[in-house]
Amino acid sequence: MATAPRIPLASGNSIPQIGLGTWPLDDAGAADVVSLAFGLGYRHVDTAENYGNEAGVGEGIRRSGVPREEAFVATKFNRRWHSVDGVRSAWENSVRRLGLEYLDLFLVHWPNPDQDTYVQAWEGLITLREEGKVRSIGVSNFTPAHLDRIIDATGVAPDVDQIQLSPYWVQAGPRAAHRERGIVTEAYTPIGRGTDLLAAPAVVAAAEAHGVTPAQAVLRWHTQQGLVAIPKSSDPRRLAQNLDVFGFDLTEAEIAAIDALDGSGPEQADPDAFGH
Ligand SMILES: NC(=O)c1ccc[n+]([C@@H]2O[C@H](COP(=O)([O-])OP(=O)(O)OC[C@H]3O[C@@H](n4cnc5c(N)ncnc54)[C@H](OP(=O)(O)O)[C@@H]3O)[C@@H](O)[C@H]2O)c1
Repeated sequence: MATAPRIPLASGNSIPQIGLGTWPLDDAGAADVVSLAFGLGYRHVDTAENYGNEAGVGEGIRRSGVPREEAFVATKFNRRWHSVDGVRSAWENSVRRLGLEYLDLFLVHWPNPDQDTYVQAWEGLITLREEGKVRSIGVSNFTPAHLDRIIDATGVAPDVDQIQLSPYWVQAGPRAAHRERGIVTEAYTPIGRGTDLLAAPAVVAAAEAHGVTPAQAVLRWHTQQGLVAIPKSSDPRRLAQNLDVFGFDLTEAEIAAIDALDGSGPEQADPDAFGH
């Protein structure tokens, strides 16, 4: 059975390099897909309060029969919980919906700088980790400036920053900032949902050269560079494909040709202007 290698996190835990994205599945869809994916060898699932499917994700894990300690479960909380007490309430709600006793990774979903309380949200996560309620803590959609602010305020760097990252947005600056701060970069929308990324000639050429699908070539581009990626699929064949990306290596020239797609995709959401 295919499995994904794990990458060490600063907290001492480790994260499977391929995880299952679950947006926009509802509870019933998430239960079906998570249980199917875990049966195929997935051990990492990404959800969020905002997706409204945490109960389904928990049900899917239980249905799969995979022991809790083998699963890596990540979820995120919304802006209304950005205070130390608020983050505790967000955690209580998420673990109740998931039917779990602890989380592997808990993330601030968006910084929401207009509200200016993401430092307090970060302090809340540090407290939860000290109490053993979460193994690892992180952020999502944080720019290097947001990261510096929480690290300066607390002395604690996130284990993970989950950002929109694909060959259309290679995010060289944020990735360098993560490396310098010991943060693992996690890519969401890794295969470019809603774009023509999988038809880009550089991607198709690499896929043909290795006898794999375009999605597998793109996911190998992520994993070969040490990124974590969380592709979403509801299709059994594509789910299996997306995990089976460790049996070949792209050449430096193929990686460079795929890198050259940077900036040619549609506009991304601006974390200084958008959030929930
Ligand atoms: N932190 C954040 O703010 C944030 C924002 C967006 C997303 N996310 C997370 O990131 C996850 C992944 O991102 P995403 O869902 O936006 O985009 P994505 O994973 O890049 O793309 C998903 C789309 O690709 C299709 N697909 C999957 N595997 C494929 C394959 N092998 N070949 C061809 N098409 C394939 C899926 O359709 P089928 O299902 O029909 O296969 C789906 O339409 C989300 O599910 C969510 O967990 C986080």
